[in-house]
Amino acid sequence: MKLLLTVLKRTHKPALSTGHRRSLSASSGLLPLRDEALVVGSTRELVQRLGSQVEVRTGFITEEEEGAFLRELEPGLKKKRYEYDHWDDAIHGYRETERARWGAACEEVLNRVRSVAFPEGSPLLGPVHILDLDKSGFIKPHVDSVKFCGSTIAGLSLLSDSIMRLVKEDATSEWLDLLLPRRSLYILRDEARYKFTHEILKDEESVFNGQRVPRLRRISVMCRNLPS
Ligand code: OGA
Ligand code: MN
Repeated sequence: MKLLLTVLKRTHKPALSTGHRRSLSASSGLLPLRDEALVVGSTRELVQRLGSQVEVRTGFITEEEEGAFLRELEPGLKKKRYEYDHWDDAIHGYRETERARWGAACEEVLNRVRSVAFPEGSPLLGPVHILDLDKSGFIKPHVDSVKFCGSTIAGLSLLSDSIMRLVKEDATSEWLDLLLPRRSLYILRDEARYKFTHEILKDEESVFNGQRVPRLRRISVMCRNLPS
């Protein structure tokens, strides 16, 4: 069964040559004001300019809250098989679902996500999108469909740290890497959402600012708003 939300993946762009983006030079823009520098990029200017449209909040959920999500999600996910064979898809090694109704603990977290990520009154995509990446799974560079979702994407990361890479669509030397620690929330808005592709690196390529970040199985819980 294909979910409505898999339509989001159709606009993905082919993988870019990433060689020039892997080595971070001395001019790399570490963002000094942000706690633990979770965002690095091709230049300091880009990190600063895009900084307001890219947020990573460490420890957004507690271990108990992560447990509550896993208890709600695992039974349904376990019934599905990871998909590997559609290698032209934007996502490799994944299973996914969506959920509109949640138990109290998860609903409370989701309300917190909604209140920090979206402008008040902004109509949201009803169901929350859940993506379970196997340890070998990864998400290739893509832009979420502008037809189905609006200016803001907010995602919780469960079970594993990971690296999200943003690359400017029409100028691939401009990039940002976001370190998404387990239990963090990330938010992409506006230019970062529309003009940059985003991807989740595979384990073998998961190096942030020179530091290896092992990628295990990872579940993301994503909220989106509707196009205006
Ligand atoms: C997507 C996507 C990122 C994530 O499903 O379109 O980009 O955090 N997911 O799983
Ligand atoms: Mn996406």
